[in-house]
Amino acid sequence: MKFRLILRQIYTMRFDILTVLPELIESPLNHSIMKRAKDKGLLEVYLHNLRDFAVGKHRQVDDYQFGGGAGMVMKPEPIAACIEQLQQERTYDAIIYTSPDGVRLDQELCNRLSMLDNVLVLCGHYKGVDERIRETYITLEISIGDYVLSGGELAAAVIVDSVGRLIPGVLNDETSALFDSFQDDLLAPPVYTRPAEWEGKSVPDVLLSGHEKMIEDWRHEQSLERTRIRRPDLYEKYVHGDHDKINSVENLH
Ligand code: ADE
Repeated sequence: MKFRLILRQIYTMRFDILTVLPELIESPLNHSIMKRAKDKGLLEVYLHNLRDFAVGKHRQVDDYQFGGGAGMVMKPEPIAACIEQLQQERTYDAIIYTSPDGVRLDQELCNRLSMLDNVLVLCGHYKGVDERIRETYITLEISIGDYVLSGGELAAAVIVDSVGRLIPGVLNDETSALFDSFQDDLLAPPVYTRPAEWEGKSVPDVLLSGHEKMIEDWRHEQSLERTRIRRPDLYEKYVHGDHDKINSVENLH
């Protein structure tokens, strides 16, 4: 898994995000690491307002659902028009729909997505999107957790952030993504900074020892213990040895 993060060829990863509320996504992707990734030319994010693809006086993007029931449904025509226009310019490696029905986003899926070049994300909104859009265009549905957001925009921002930071060159110290929580199916060990003594609490001696091997061993033990206590599900996965498996980009399209 670690090698895969290094092996990705260095060129730009492009996200096209289709939304009825671009304002919701702009801010999280225009600061800090995402901004730096864009400034370095490693990440491109294009927001497409579905209203621009709607027709009629009111540029309507939603409508009542057939069969009755509360909540509006995203109309198929503006989405299809936007996707087809974009597809004339490039082929997408994945066309994602953000929805609580989707596969749960985890670090493994982020790693796999970070190997792709062109990703389109359709943000669900209102009661959801007309089912025929899902059948016609969507290759992958992603949920960021078992709770319901007001719309898929925040989920799209989470996807771009968690995937974008894995593109080689995005983080200053490229190895740091390798040691993130979850990157080995383990939680990260505790970290400390100065002062070494604070409010009667000391930093563990080993971290001040300068002994690299001992520090590495201590961190690994702490990761294991923290994972065992807080995330027994991940711990089981780790001890059963599938933590080294190579992730594949198959099944994303
Ligand atoms: N839209 C609404 N809730 C969502 C979730 N949990 N994940 C992704 N998209 C969503």
